[in-house]
Amino acid sequence: MNKKKHLCALFDLDGVIVDTAKFHFLAWKKIAKNIGYELTHEDNEHLKGVSRQDSLNIILDLANVTIDLEVFNHYLLQKNNDYLLLIQSLSPNDILPGISEALTFLKERRIKIGLGSASRNAKIILQKLQLMDYFEVIIDGNIVIKGKPDPEVFLKGCSALNVPKDRCIVFEDAFAGILAAKEAGMTAVALGDKKFFSNADFCFSDFTQLNIKVLSNLF
Ligand code: BG6
Ligand code: MG
Repeated sequence: MNKKKHLCALFDLDGVIVDTAKFHFLAWKKIAKNIGYELTHEDNEHLKGVSRQDSLNIILDLANVTIDLEVFNHYLLQKNNDYLLLIQSLSPNDILPGISEALTFLKERRIKIGLGSASRNAKIILQKLQLMDYFEVIIDGNIVIKGKPDPEVFLKGCSALNVPKDRCIVFEDAFAGILAAKEAGMTAVALGDKKFFSNADFCFSDFTQLNIKVLSNLF
């Protein structure tokens, strides 16, 4: 990790700012059922941070099923329609604990804030959470070509914010996301269980542990 203070914070969305994994799971479970596979919570762990398309490929692999491109695209559409219905009532009450305090702290310190998410629904979700104003830059699934663990999403974020990559911190809850951050040459902070994130620079169970004192050491 860089000993100099960091100048920018890149946040993953799903699982860091808001718990949408449960909704992705429900929507994928329905698709999996259609193809004759019972998707488990354990399977769902492998879908975190992974693009919509790659997620469907993983499910097809698990089910050992191949389908036509047309059906593939139909499932992608159906999954997203179901997902959009499930997230319809998201509100600021769904912002995960500690996030609002951290964003306020960073804003006051004039630290640049960006979003680095695989989701194509990132803007809709930030709007529902009323957090759009905090983010100077939003790099989402509509912009990136190569999904996490490729570093593209975070490299695009730091270049849009005009900050050297070794002065950026990434906050991530997915193994693929931590890999992407390290590959990008950034400080990687994992949110979740330490035993899954030996590759991260730091690990905290959630943002309530990343209090002002901890953040002051990083920024
Ligand atoms: C990631 C989620 O943030 O976005 C994945 O962790 C999801 O589970 C991916 O597949 C793509 O999201 P969306 O909203 O474009 O289907
Ligand atoms: Mg995530």
